[in-house]
Amino acid sequence: MTTPIRKAVFPVAGLGTRFLPATKAMPKEMLTVVDKPLIQHVVDEARAAGIEHFIFVTGRNKGVIEDHFDRQVELEQTLRERGKIEELEALEAGLPGPGQTSFTRQQSPLGLGHAVWCARDLVGNEPFALLLPDVLVQSNGTTCLAQLMDVYSNTGGNVIAVEEVPDEATHQYGIVDITRGEGNGHSVKGMVEKPAPGTAPSNFIIMGRYLLQPEIFDILEAQEGGAGGEIQITDAMIRLLESQPFTAVEYQGKSFDCGSKAGFLAANLAFALQRPDLRPELLREIKKLS
Ligand code: G1P
Repeated sequence: MTTPIRKAVFPVAGLGTRFLPATKAMPKEMLTVVDKPLIQHVVDEARAAGIEHFIFVTGRNKGVIEDHFDRQVELEQTLRERGKIEELEALEAGLPGPGQTSFTRQQSPLGLGHAVWCARDLVGNEPFALLLPDVLVQSNGTTCLAQLMDVYSNTGGNVIAVEEVPDEATHQYGIVDITRGEGNGHSVKGMVEKPAPGTAPSNFIIMGRYLLQPEIFDILEAQEGGAGGEIQITDAMIRLLESQPFTAVEYQGKSFDCGSKAGFLAANLAFALQRPDLRPELLREIKKLS
């Protein structure tokens, strides 16, 4: 019997410099993919996987994320008065319940590992999910995090989503070295954060969804700097691998790196084309452009 995973951590402290000037006054996590902010897509994914508590590690100028996950009483009242039931229901569907969100601040941009460590007291001594909101996953049916949960219910330990990329892209990611298992779950032998070109042990990247055991916090406590001088979650996972198993899951679905402009725009197209209410008109518009 594995310990259930109830809490998810969302590191949302990044400055979003790649999207300036759009992100000058607005957090990058509030950029919209179709009609929902990026962060809402990722929170929805976590909720669909059974997550009950949503922990945001924010930074300065991110207050609007907290507002987004609160009620907007005047707006709700106006929508009700005008009979806009669909819009009201959409707002309600995206809202975590009372007491289901927590916010803490990273204060200094010391790396992803440091951001996760900032959530240690809010997570406590239980396994947790970690979702990087730069990465959106389009799946048919079971979400990426729910697929990890399925594997975790059999394996326990730590579980991470991986996917294969071409050789020339491996240096941009955390990479796992695996022993292939049956099906889509593989045993992790080693990991490396952003290996120099041509040195990656495999083409499987760590794509931004993790289920981690709380002992990761003890390792992060040491605050050791790694690739790029930052405190890396991958380095802490390498240490944890010495005492705990990690399973790499080749998930079903398509990921979009919304930290890049092209990836973000592609996500908008792909998610819009999946919507029956938008698809025909959007296809007509795209045709006009080509
Ligand atoms: C982070 C992780 C890296 C992972 C990537 C996925 O890197 O450190 O291991 O592969 O996210 O997007 P970042 O994109 O923050 O540089």
